[in-house]
Amino acid sequence: MARAAKKSRIILALDPVSRKSNLKYATGNIKGVSDHVCAVKINFHLLLPLSSSQIKEITELAHKSGLQCIADIKLNDIDNTNEVALEQLKIMGFDAVIANPFMGTNTLTSLVQMAHKKNMGVIALVYMSHPDASEGYGLETSEDMMYRIFFGRAITAQADGVIIGATQTEILREISMKKKELGVPIDVYSPGVGAQGADAVAAAKNGSDYLIVGRAIIEAKDPAKQAREMKDAVMRAFSA
Ligand code: XMP
Repeated sequence: MARAAKKSRIILALDPVSRKSNLKYATGNIKGVSDHVCAVKINFHLLLPLSSSQIKEITELAHKSGLQCIADIKLNDIDNTNEVALEQLKIMGFDAVIANPFMGTNTLTSLVQMAHKKNMGVIALVYMSHPDASEGYGLETSEDMMYRIFFGRAITAQADGVIIGATQTEILREISMKKKELGVPIDVYSPGVGAQGADAVAAAKNGSDYLIVGRAIIEAKDPAKQAREMKDAVMRAFSA
């Protein structure tokens, strides 16, 4: 992660609010806030309407600005399809992909190994940020709660990070304790700040290592100021 160079733990979710010019929108936002974030997360808002060369233009600009690029496709498929998806994402300039451990431990492990060979990372979903995420990630199975199983799969597969919504206070705390107990340094990435109701500083205190933020920055009157203030507040929480 470009955290040290940027002194930021904020990841910008590049989700357009208007479909007029997605490419201009993306490059404009990167230029506007690149001093205050450490990465950009791109999902279907841009991946579907833009061509792969346009996406490459965006990732090249992000890299020139010192930012890493995460593909939020919540990948969840068989080995062969996962490999093709990784290859295409690599060509487009992505550094990491978000994947769903529902695919199974062996398939997730194989995905991580393929990604690492390509010098890419894998971030595994553990608990999503939206209210009815509990219907899947919060299911109790005969083995354990689904999110605990997913966290275990992420550790076994040696994923580079996990996603836990900033809205999931108790889960963040639990996983943070579990990380300490197991001595695993896996990073926690948290969407759900602002528009979905969570507070960045509270999430950082509860166990998030990186905050993924879209609308709260992009729709602000002054996105650069908003990103800077959020970055500073989160960094203060980490140094407290
Ligand atoms: P906002 O505007 O709510 O955007 O700050 C959040 C971004 O993150 C995505 N999102 C998630 N991605 N796991 C993910 O991998 C999640 O739990 C999750 N919750 C939100 C959302 O699609 C948007 O791009």
